[in-house]
Amino acid sequence: MSAAPLVAHGIRRLGVLGAGQMGTGIAMVSAVRAKVPVSIYDRSPEQVKKGLGLMDKLLDKDVAKGRLTSEQAKEARDRVSVVGTEAGLKGLRDVDMVVELKQSIFASLAAELRPDAILATNTSSISITKIANSAIPEGSSASSEEGKKSASRVVGLHFFNPVPVMQKPIFTGLPTEVTVSKDVPGFVSNALLMPFLNEAIMHLEKGIATREDIDTTLKLGMNHPMGPLQLADFIGLDTCLAIQRTLYEGTGDSKYRPAILLERMVDAGWLGKKNGKGFYDYN
Ligand code: 3HC
Repeated sequence: MSAAPLVAHGIRRLGVLGAGQMGTGIAMVSAVRAKVPVSIYDRSPEQVKKGLGLMDKLLDKDVAKGRLTSEQAKEARDRVSVVGTEAGLKGLRDVDMVVELKQSIFASLAAELRPDAILATNTSSISITKIANSAIPEGSSASSEEGKKSASRVVGLHFFNPVPVMQKPIFTGLPTEVTVSKDVPGFVSNALLMPFLNEAIMHLEKGIATREDIDTTLKLGMNHPMGPLQLADFIGLDTCLAIQRTLYEGTGDSKYRPAILLERMVDAGWLGKKNGKGFYDYN
């Protein structure tokens, strides 16, 4: 999304729910590249502090590398405001679109936000149809005009991690490539990526090759920036398992069975890079 398409779609202010890695990245690319004011809300003030700290660090790096002037970085940073916990979702009443992940909050968002605000979910695997259904107000049926209108406010908008790197085309002023998928478990991206990562884990589980040999084969042989085991660590093994289960349960197809090793690593609390231990050690 470059500035023009966002504004052309009537998005003059964006709301982002959650100040984790994805939320902070989405807020940053919107403020820097699309130049749209962003309101961030997270129930945890510590997470907001951490997220804004990361954004400051990334903006400083862009200035140091000559990708932004310090004025541009300051202007972008000033476009980002934080909604306090007292205001909660009510603090997002002036946004034209909000990006959020969890299905549980869509009913509240639909009730609190303006009726014309777009409710976008960054989910990588939950059914958009199910989320759209949860945005229908209590007392309205899915077949009523009001129900259809409420559900049609919901869209799936999937960003890739790390957002500031993967969305680089916005930075150059070119419109970001947008691809479209039907509402199937995993959409195109995770329906292809996760079975690949799961298969790599099964290869390790069966002792077909070491973690290094699996990752190096893909890095050198297929020119992937990261090997599949390193990428699984980077995404989070709990996230990989949740998505793989969604594919398995959503299709009923045994080809999507999660690797037992993946299940056990998550059981052990080895979640990947975010907590220091996954297929590799990060401490
Ligand atoms: N946030 C912001 N910037 C980051 C970052 C992060 N988390 N991680 C790395 N970067 C930046 C670095 O600062 C560096 O910036 P610079 O060019 O200004 O110095 C640049 O990315 C390159 O980083 P490095 O030189 O340290 O390392 P690499 O060249 O190995 O690149 C990588 C790192 C961009 C993460 C690259 O390995 C990569 O593209 N990996 C694959 C990522 C991928 O597949 N993402 C999709 C995940 S799936 C997903 O998101 C969907 C979900 O639903 C599961």
